[in-house]
Amino acid sequence: MIIAPSVLTADLADLAKSCQQAIDSGLDWLHLDVMDGNFVPNLTFGPPVIRSLRNALGPEPYFDAHLMISNAEQCFQDYIDAGCNHLSVHVEAATHLHRLVTAIRAAGAGVGVVLNPGTPVDAALEVLSELDLVLVMSVNPGFGGQSFIPAVEQKIRKLKVAIDEQVAAGGRTVQIQVDGGVKAHNIGMLQDWGVGNCVVGSGLFNDKASIQENLNIIQTALQQ
Ligand code: DX5
Ligand code: ZN
Repeated sequence: MIIAPSVLTADLADLAKSCQQAIDSGLDWLHLDVMDGNFVPNLTFGPPVIRSLRNALGPEPYFDAHLMISNAEQCFQDYIDAGCNHLSVHVEAATHLHRLVTAIRAAGAGVGVVLNPGTPVDAALEVLSELDLVLVMSVNPGFGGQSFIPAVEQKIRKLKVAIDEQVAAGGRTVQIQVDGGVKAHNIGMLQDWGVGNCVVGSGLFNDKASIQENLNIIQTALQQ
């Protein structure tokens, strides 16, 4: 299981330090929640901050950018140039989804499609052969610290069947990433459903315990 820490609930005034703490705990992905105040009702950071993070953290961490923005078709290259390794784009934010995902891949980044809780899984299946990852939102995007929506189970199971079929036919392996409300109490269940990549925000960055302590509890839950 890849744990991708979401820096949204980290100390944004000291973002590089929070990210470094996650890296020092043994995590090598960083899930960067980019919000534009238009596609979602919140605003975070964009390419200049990501470039600064890359300079501060060095070449190693895998920058997984979750683009909750309306204009990804126009500006995805800026995120790659800023140091992102992977871009995930929302179905509803692209007029030409197939063109966008193939353009991101051609530009040299990994690519994923994001399904909101209200978005049918079929939207991702149409472009599945072009993807590295499908991000299933288990909360409505925009804020950290929300509760996991259990109804995503059927979507994840359907997606897993489609990916297994694609792989059996000699096609590309696609990761299933789940984002929103993932904590120690439900991550084992996600693992059982075939999820291999979980975004964890408030379950890691909170005032109850250190990142390392929270991560230890999550990893213990995964072994049970
Ligand atoms: C929501 C973001 C998530 C989220 C994760 O729009 O995409 O990455 O903040 O945070 P938790 O784990 O607190 O739900
Ligand atoms: Zn996210």
